[in-house]
Amino acid sequence: MFGFNVDKVRKDFPVLNEKIIYFDSACMSLKPKQVVEKMNEYYYKYPACSGRSGHKLAKQVENEVDLARREVQKLIGAGSSEEIIFTKNATEGINLVANAISWEKGDEVIVSDKEHNSNLIPWLKLISQGVVVKVCKGNEDGTFNMKNFKDCFSKRTRLVAIVHVSNLDGVENPIAEIVKISHEKGVWILVDGCQSFPHKAIDVRKLDVDFFAFSGHKALGPTGVGVLYGKKELLNKLNQFIVGGQTVLDSTYEGYDEELPPKKFEAGLQDYAGIIGFGEACRYLKNIGFREIEKQERKLNELATSLLNGKVEIIGPLDAALRGGIFAFNIRGMKTHDVAKMLDASKGIAVRSGAFCVHSWFNARKMDGAVRASFYFYNTEEEVKIFAKEVEKICELV
Ligand SMILES: Cc1ncc(COP(=O)(O)O)c(C=O)c1O
Repeated sequence: MFGFNVDKVRKDFPVLNEKIIYFDSACMSLKPKQVVEKMNEYYYKYPACSGRSGHKLAKQVENEVDLARREVQKLIGAGSSEEIIFTKNATEGINLVANAISWEKGDEVIVSDKEHNSNLIPWLKLISQGVVVKVCKGNEDGTFNMKNFKDCFSKRTRLVAIVHVSNLDGVENPIAEIVKISHEKGVWILVDGCQSFPHKAIDVRKLDVDFFAFSGHKALGPTGVGVLYGKKELLNKLNQFIVGGQTVLDSTYEGYDEELPPKKFEAGLQDYAGIIGFGEACRYLKNIGFREIEKQERKLNELATSLLNGKVEIIGPLDAALRGGIFAFNIRGMKTHDVAKMLDASKGIAVRSGAFCVHSWFNARKMDGAVRASFYFYNTEEEVKIFAKEVEKICELV
């Protein structure tokens, strides 16, 4: 797109009107018309199954799914489309890896202290198999503590599972360095890319991550589609997770021959409309360009921070440039859900409240949660000003 124009972009999102200010994109992004139309195209023109029947409709679905897989591959810089596994969401991708490794008693997994439940619970669940989960504590302002991270390693470390950009405070972890250290120790690394993929240019080969999981629904795509990227040689080594139709080359009553990745992991009929729609979302993101996306989000977060710093308690570093599109805060003396309800009732401002699935972090601080406004490229400075004014009014009630 030549010259980013937010007013023009907003026309692609019919839900954006004067009655709603949507600041909940970290939970779920809005969907442009192009994505919905692409999904309708599937349902209206070729609503068949991919990879099985040989008729024309089936071949068309197969071709569209293949194109979508290649869009994802290109967007994240993967070496081959076979490294892109479609899942139902990021949680499923992370569970896939957690369940596909043959763990031994005493194996260790390192996570950060700011993991979403989706990148914490799958590892905690392994404790019953004798796996040890080590939590790397960050700095007070939410930034990554490299020394604490290095101290977590032992001879038994088997995997590092770390969030790229936190959904709590928007802080980006230094993934390239984290990967380098992990690999020097001979340890695989899985990165939770849910809050980075929709907002910044990703190159999995440059970052050298082993696994990278993310959701489609936070990146303009429909609900029900996620992606697990994995290096081909590692995907070949993993055990299967959910098995059945499509995951085998052949079967008898006694056994079966495994398929190759990605089919090895994509059991049963897939969400073809969703996958094809997500391919369109990737094209849309590429057209807008991540430089423009980051620039717009930073501008909005800097504005929100300058208008509200000192009036609310900001979660994470005070420097808005370190918090991507996330502005999480508390108003002393107010319950988080009450603040969110007031914002919704007064000006239709949609924000998230509570622990936003990072209960462990809030519990460790004896906090109930926070209010989170999360900005995306379709939001405007005008909306941020209205939001700041409403927050100020709520502050005056205390
Ligand atoms: C950092 C992070 N990880 C994981 C998830 C879970 O994603 P999904 O709903 O696609 O499983 C989220 C969703 O909010 C998230 O923000």
